[in-house]
Amino acid sequence: MYTKTHFASEERLHEQHKYDFFIVHRLEHNFIIDKIESLHKQYCSGNNIVEEMAQFLSSWLAGHILDKDKKYAKDLNSKGVR
Ligand SMILES: [Fe+2]
Repeated sequence: MYTKTHFASEERLHEQHKYDFFIVHRLEHNFIIDKIESLHKQYCSGNNIVEEMAQFLSSWLAGHILDKDKKYAKDLNSKGVR
């Protein structure tokens, strides 16, 4: 899954540059992955999860990218990482 690969490379960057909120950020990644996998399982079982998935992606995932990812990018930029 692209999301897992993306999160893993982000986490490597956090560890490498000792990002202060690394653990909290990782927990949020894990929560997002668990939720997507749970919705995928429900979809495979024949449940209609389209609305819930759309809502989740627009709230949690977008919120994560627009808020938490911006914060770590700013922090790493201040440490000279580009
Ligand atoms: Fe992230």
